[in-house]
Amino acid sequence: MPSPIRLEPSRRELLVSSAATVAIAGAATGVCAADIRREIVEEQTKVVFEVNGETKHLTLDNRTTLLDALREHLHLTGTKKGCDHGQCGACTVIVNGRRINSCLTLAVMHEGEKITTIEGLGRPGNLHPMQAAFVKHDGFQCGYCTPGQICSSVAVLQEIDADIPSHVTENLIAQATVTSAEIRERMSGNICRCGAYSNILDAIKEVAGVPA
Ligand code: FES
Ligand code: FES
Repeated sequence: MPSPIRLEPSRRELLVSSAATVAIAGAATGVCAADIRREIVEEQTKVVFEVNGETKHLTLDNRTTLLDALREHLHLTGTKKGCDHGQCGACTVIVNGRRINSCLTLAVMHEGEKITTIEGLGRPGNLHPMQAAFVKHDGFQCGYCTPGQICSSVAVLQEIDADIPSHVTENLIAQATVTSAEIRERMSGNICRCGAYSNILDAIKEVAGVPA
């Protein structure tokens, strides 16, 4: 029996054909692969954004993630790098009021935006209520996930508040409508390898005004 006709090229064939295309294009223009690579690497962009209330001017390699811009260029190392692939939430920061994984976004995409990191929420002696609640309820063990957990928690309460129709309540949280299950679900993108979840939940519920 004749073997079936294969319509799609294999991955190897695609790679070989791409490499050949680059080589032919380079030969035609006199540009070698190293030149192309150098040109890409040296592509930089100026970006201005606000971090924790301060205007920051940076010139960055276009490929710099927001996480690396914060940690490596602005030395705000409170924001943690866990997986660097959008899977753990350790790098969560608040951008224009919404939480995002800073490892999944390029810094140059945030021109003119307002970024809040854990350092911008509060400081020792002047903690944000969520930071104080995490301390009170032991919402951490090793603490590596904690900055992301706290940034996420603060944004979660704002999200819930925004989702509640204004006629229901004027309070930050409509206590009767917010359940532990909903908070858990909304926090499910923040992984804690130490398993401090129940204490984290207690801290968030306290700040939300949800009965224990
Ligand atoms: S470091 Fe960004 S999600 Fe894990
Ligand atoms: S406190 Fe250790 S990973 Fe969460």
